[in-house]
Amino acid sequence: MNLKYLLNLISALLLKNKPVFAHYAVTHRCNLKCAICNNGCICNPENELNLEEINSLARFLKKRGIGLVSFGGGEPFMRSDIIDIVKIFAKNKIKTQILTNTLNISDNQINQMLKIKYFNGLSISLHTFSEKTSLEFYNDKNLFKKILENINNLSIFLKKNKILLNTVISPLNIDEIYDIAAFAKTNNLKISFLPIEANNNIALKFKESDFKKIDTLYDFLIAENKKYNYIFNSSQFLEMSKRYQKGIQSQQHCHAGKLYISINPDGNIAPCHKYHTHVRNKFNPISNKDKNCADCMRPCWIEISNFFTNKKSFFERIKKFIPN
Ligand SMILES: C[S@@+](CC[C@H](N)C(=O)[O-])C[C@H]1O[C@@H](n2cnc3c(N)ncnc32)[C@H](O)[C@@H]1O
Ligand code: SF4
Ligand code: SF4
Repeated sequence: MNLKYLLNLISALLLKNKPVFAHYAVTHRCNLKCAICNNGCICNPENELNLEEINSLARFLKKRGIGLVSFGGGEPFMRSDIIDIVKIFAKNKIKTQILTNTLNISDNQINQMLKIKYFNGLSISLHTFSEKTSLEFYNDKNLFKKILENINNLSIFLKKNKILLNTVISPLNIDEIYDIAAFAKTNNLKISFLPIEANNNIALKFKESDFKKIDTLYDFLIAENKKYNYIFNSSQFLEMSKRYQKGIQSQQHCHAGKLYISINPDGNIAPCHKYHTHVRNKFNPISNKDKNCADCMRPCWIEISNFFTNKKSFFERIKKFIPN
C-alpha cells in the first residue's frame, strides 16, 4: 500500500479532511440509453484524457494519497484502452474498480483484468429481471437476459469476489428487487442497492401510494443484511435510502472534497459531480459544498462518509470483508 494513502486513511478517520477515494468518469460515451440515466454525454473522445495525460493524473492522485479510484462514465468499456488505464493506476499502487453495464467487454480484456494486482473488480449494473421492465428500462425486452448471461460468464472467469452487482431501486423495478436479491444470494455474489435520483422526472419519483411498498422492501433488505453477508450496503445506508425514496433528505454530513473527489473525462477535478468548475489540476481538497445542495445518496460518497463517521457502519463494513 502507498504510504501516503495509509496516512490519509488515518487522517480521514481522525479528522475527516483527507480525500482517500476518487470517482473518475473516463468517458461520457455510452452504448445504452437507460430510462433512469441523464448521462450528460459530451461524446467527443478528443475531450477525453489520453494515456499519457492519465499517467500524469495517476501520479498526481498518488502524491495526494488517493488509494482507490472508481472508473465510471458513461460506459468505461467504450474506451478500448480501459485496461491500459487500470494498469497505469496499478503501476502507481492505486486500487481501481470499473462500473459497467457489461455489454462491451472482450474475452481478452477479461484475461488481462485477471492478472492486474491492484484491480478490485467490476461493479455491474443489474436493474431489471423481466421482459416488461427490460423494455421500459432499455427499450429492449431481451437485454436483461444478455446482462445476466454476461454476469454468469464473468463470475466464472473473474473470481466472484471481483464482482459487485449494482441495482438502482426505482418505481420501474421495485417489484423485482426481491428476485434480484435472491439471484445475488443464490449465486454467491455481493450486491449494492442504490436509491433512484429522480432529478425532476415524475416517472422516476415514488408516489405516496408506493410508500408502503418501499417500507416493506427496505425492512426486508435490512433484515437480510443482518442475517447474511451478500448485501454490500451498510444498514445505515439502507435506512437512509428508505427515507430518501420517500422524499426525506439524507441528513448525512457530506464530505465532498474532504474524503472524496470527482474527476471528469477531460481531467477536471472537483469535490463532487456537481461542482465541475475547477481549473484542471488546481485541486483544492477543502469542500465547497454549498449550503443549498439538494442532497444526494450516491453510495460512493455517502457510504464513505458513513464508514468514517459512524462506528456501526465502520464495523459492519469490516465484517463484510471477512469471508462467510
Ligand atoms: C452512470 S452509470 C456509469 C457506469 C455504467 N455505464 C453502468 O451503467 O454501470 C453508474 C451507475 O449510476 C446509476 N444511475 C444512473 N442513473 C441514475 C439515477 N438517476 N439514479 C441513481 N443511479 C443512477 C447506473 O444505473 C449505474 O449503476
Ligand atoms: S449504461 Fe450507465 S451511463 Fe449508460 S445510460 Fe445506462 S446508466 Fe447511464
Ligand atoms: S451532490 Fe451534494 S450531497 Fe451529493 S456529494 Fe455533491 S455536495 Fe455532497
